[in-house]
Amino acid sequence: MNFKRHRRLRKNPLMRDLVRETTLSVNDFIQPLFVKENLEQKEEVASMPGVYQFALADLLEEVESCVQLGIKSFIIFGIPAVKDEVGSEASNPDGIVQKALRLIKQHYPDLILIADTCLCEFTSHGHCGILDGETVVNDLSLERLVQVAISQAEAGADIIAPSNAMDGYVAAIREGLDKSGFDMVPIMSYSVKFASSFYGPFRDAGESAPAFGDRKTYQMDPANRLEALREAQSDEEEGADFLMVKPALAFLDVLRDLRNQSNLPLVAYNVSGEYSMVKAAAAQGWIDERAVVLESLIGMKRAGADLIISYFAKDVAGYLKG
Ligand code: PBG
Repeated sequence: MNFKRHRRLRKNPLMRDLVRETTLSVNDFIQPLFVKENLEQKEEVASMPGVYQFALADLLEEVESCVQLGIKSFIIFGIPAVKDEVGSEASNPDGIVQKALRLIKQHYPDLILIADTCLCEFTSHGHCGILDGETVVNDLSLERLVQVAISQAEAGADIIAPSNAMDGYVAAIREGLDKSGFDMVPIMSYSVKFASSFYGPFRDAGESAPAFGDRKTYQMDPANRLEALREAQSDEEEGADFLMVKPALAFLDVLRDLRNQSNLPLVAYNVSGEYSMVKAAAAQGWIDERAVVLESLIGMKRAGADLIISYFAKDVAGYLKG
């Protein structure tokens, strides 16, 4: 009889360890943090159990508990007390994100702090750029985004992560950072950002839902794969240091495509809706949370991700330690 016995390599745990192709390490993970201005103490996000909006006052305690588990990089999102048409607070040197960056840097100079560079949490209309009527104007939005990025770098951001999905943002931010003396600050571009329904819970956490319309003129159509390659290619040409695919689970094919097209470090964003679905099913007792989380994340790495931004980062760091 001539057939292959694949089961030889699965016959016990040690044999399976020996032939395992992909692994997770705490070094793969970036922990998101939400910090809200004028908040007295942390508040749990209703649609994201276990995720909090932190007050500046309890931010360091959270960072310390992550550091204890081995997490070394964080992405910071801010919710300002005051919003306006142009998102002025996003580039305020004393804005909430800048304060959070300075505070963490002061106590933990060696951590990697990534600043999400966008306007939607800061604009009264919740769009990621500057409006003319109901249109988000590309080049005017770029000017604002550059100001935001520079102020974040001045406050100590180690990496600038622009997520507003305007054309040319990598080129504009690279030029702005270089002119301001931040030529060594890398750009982690949200290169392939789909207009996704999986961002719903984030908009509760970031208080950033658009007041009208949607983001489909600037974020990508989930149906498109070749367009994703074009977006990634132009970001790379403009000088991006990292590429990202967001969301992750419904777009693993795009992660793989980018892995095959580019030699840059590749980031998967395991977004809010992906988190909340698992949490909700686990709370019902319908799935084994830990097993489902680990299987999903290993899938992202197998698809080609080098790094994963995930609200599960802290939990996973705990699993890997224990
Ligand atoms: C800001 C931004 C968003 C997310 C990350 N940065 C929201 C959006 O585009 O509406 C979503 C992250 C998540 O869902 O976890 N533009």
